[in-house]
Amino acid sequence: MFERPRTGERAVLVRLGIGAPVDPEDLEEFRQLALSAGVQPVATVTGRRDRPDPRYFMGSGKAEELRAVAESEGAEVILVDHALSPSQERNLEKLIGRRVLDRNGLILDIFAQRARSAEGKLEVELAQLKHISSRLVRGWTHLERQRGRGGGVGLRGPGETQLETDRRLVAKRIHVLERRLDKLKQQRETGRQMRAEIPVPSVALVGYTNAGKSTLFRALTGTEAYVADQLFATLDPTVRRMMLPGGAGVVVADTVGFIRELPHELVAAFQSTLTEAREATLLLHVVDASDPRREERVEQVNKVLAEIGADRIPQVLVYNKIDRLGVPPRVERDAEGRAHTVWISAEKRLGLDALVGVIAERLSRSVRRAVLGLPASAGALRAKLYSSGAVRAERSHGDGSLELDVELPDDELMALARSAGVRILQLRESDMPCVPRNGYLQSPTSLGASKLR
Ligand code: GTP
Repeated sequence: MFERPRTGERAVLVRLGIGAPVDPEDLEEFRQLALSAGVQPVATVTGRRDRPDPRYFMGSGKAEELRAVAESEGAEVILVDHALSPSQERNLEKLIGRRVLDRNGLILDIFAQRARSAEGKLEVELAQLKHISSRLVRGWTHLERQRGRGGGVGLRGPGETQLETDRRLVAKRIHVLERRLDKLKQQRETGRQMRAEIPVPSVALVGYTNAGKSTLFRALTGTEAYVADQLFATLDPTVRRMMLPGGAGVVVADTVGFIRELPHELVAAFQSTLTEAREATLLLHVVDASDPRREERVEQVNKVLAEIGADRIPQVLVYNKIDRLGVPPRVERDAEGRAHTVWISAEKRLGLDALVGVIAERLSRSVRRAVLGLPASAGALRAKLYSSGAVRAERSHGDGSLELDVELPDDELMALARSAGVRILQLRESDMPCVPRNGYLQSPTSLGASKLR
C-alpha cells in the first residue's frame, strides 16, 4: 500500500517565495534533495505569494500552470518544497492527476532509504506511517480515479470501508513499531550505561548534511563508514573507539546530517538516533568550508542542536574541505588560548593531527569542583573517587546516600553524570553555569536515581 516506485521518476519541482522572491540557493538545495531521493527533476515551477493559499498552497493560476508543465514534461510526481496540509496535497493531486509529495514526505522518503540500524529504520517507518495516516483519504480518491468511477453516493460505502481498514492496519502497525522501538531504545541505553561504567569521554560529529562527517569519522577511526556524495549518507550514529596521543581512549560517534527546515516532528522522531550527540562530552561541528552559505549552515545546525538539548555541550568548529579553497590547515584559538576552530580536509587527510591534538586538549583538563550525589549502593564508585584523590569532603544522609565535594576534569565529570544513580548537584568555577538538577548533566539513567533513594 505504501510502496513508492522511486527509480528515476520524472518530477516537477515547486518552490514559492513567501513574501520574498525564491532564493536560487534554496532551490538548488531542494534539487539536491530530490536527486538524493532518486527522482529525476525535469522542470521547475517557481512563484511568489504573500501567504499560502488554503486550497492549493499556491494560487489556482499557478496550480493550473503546474498541471500544464507536468503534462507537457510527462512528469509522474510533483515535489513541493513546503509543508502542505493533507487537503492541499489532495486538492493538487485531484487537479493535476499526479502524485504530490511535500517537503516532509520527501525528507522522510530519503531518511527511509538511508536508515541503516534497526532503530533508525523503525524510527523512519514510524514517522512515515504517522505522516501518511493523516493523508489516508488519498487511497480512496486514487481508487476512484483508477476504476474510472465517479464519487457517487452508492460507491462511497466500499471506499470508506477500505479506508477504515487501512486506518486500522496503520494504527496496528504503529503500535507494533512503537513497542519494538522501545525495546531497542532500552538495549541502546544498556550499551551506553556499560560505556559510562568505564568513564570514556565521547566525541560526536555533528553538522549539516554533506559536510563530510562520515569521511572525517572514517579518517579519525580508520573504519569504513558508509560515504556517498548524496545528502543524508548517514542516518544512524555509528560509534567507534579512537586512541588519542598519550594512550587515552575516546568514543567517536557519527550522527545524522542536519538540514535547513528539518521539520519539527522529524527532529522528535530521530531523538534516539541523536542521543549520541546529546550525551557527548565534546561536539565536533563539521562544516563544508567550500559552501558559500557555510555561516548560515552553522547557525541552522546550532538551532537543531538547541532543539535536541545539545547546545550547551562544548563545541569545536571543524571547517572541512579546505583542499577546495586551497588554504593550509590551521587551528584558531580564543584570547585564553582555547582552540575553537580547526581547518582541515578529511578526504585529503590535511590537518588531522592538529585536529586530534585539539580533541585531546579540549577533552582533558580544566579541573572543576563539583558536588556529587551518590546513592547508598555506589560504594565501589565512592572508593574509586577516594583512591584517585578526587574527594575534598563528604556528607551522608539518613538513607545512606552521600554528597561528595570532588575535583575532577570535565570529561570525567561528564562520564560520571552518565553513571547510573550519580547526580551532579552543583558545579563550581565553571564557565558553564549549572543549576542543581540541571537537565544537561542528568542523563535519563541518572534521573532515575531518585527512585533509588
Ligand atoms: P550526510 O550523511 O549527508 O550528513 O553527509 P556527511 O556529512 O557524512 O558527508 P560525507 O562524509 O558523506 O561526505 C560528503 C561528500 O563530501 C562526499 O562526496 C565526500 O567525498 C566529500 N568530502 C568529504 N570530505 C572532503 C574533503 O576534505 N574535501 C573534498 N573535496 N571533499 C570532501
